[in-house]
Amino acid sequence: GAPVEVNIAALEEGALVSVTWRGKPVWVVRRTPDMLETLDEVAPELSDPDCKTDQQPEYCRNKFRAIKQPVLVMIGICTHLGCSPKYRPDASGGQLDYAGFFCPCHGSHYDISGRVYAGQPAPLNMVVPPHHYEGDDLIVVG
Ligand code: FES
Repeated sequence: GAPVEVNIAALEEGALVSVTWRGKPVWVVRRTPDMLETLDEVAPELSDPDCKTDQQPEYCRNKFRAIKQPVLVMIGICTHLGCSPKYRPDASGGQLDYAGFFCPCHGSHYDISGRVYAGQPAPLNMVVPPHHYEGDDLIVVG
């Protein structure tokens, strides 16, 4: 499929915009400083906090899973059976104390980088697609 462009100039802190790439939802989230601070705190509770599995390009193999630290670009599909998780900017499902994503199908929780918590039905972190920037605000996915 063709690459998809996303202009994030007007994307506010804490907001999520969704586009479609190769028939899949790709989410772009401009995370707040508070959200980024949770990434270290949640690490001990995660299945693969260091992103050792190949769920992201090499240049996003870090806790931010991003090129620009605040800006998450991620395929919004649960790695269990493919539902689309819900964005929980305040807490991921009520059960957890941190911002993240919650899949209502079987209850998988992910942190705000899409890293899955340990002991969830979902086995892997959500997927970060290949992407790059053209200028400050234009992301090209694919
Ligand atoms: Fe998300 Fe099962 S599809 S928890």
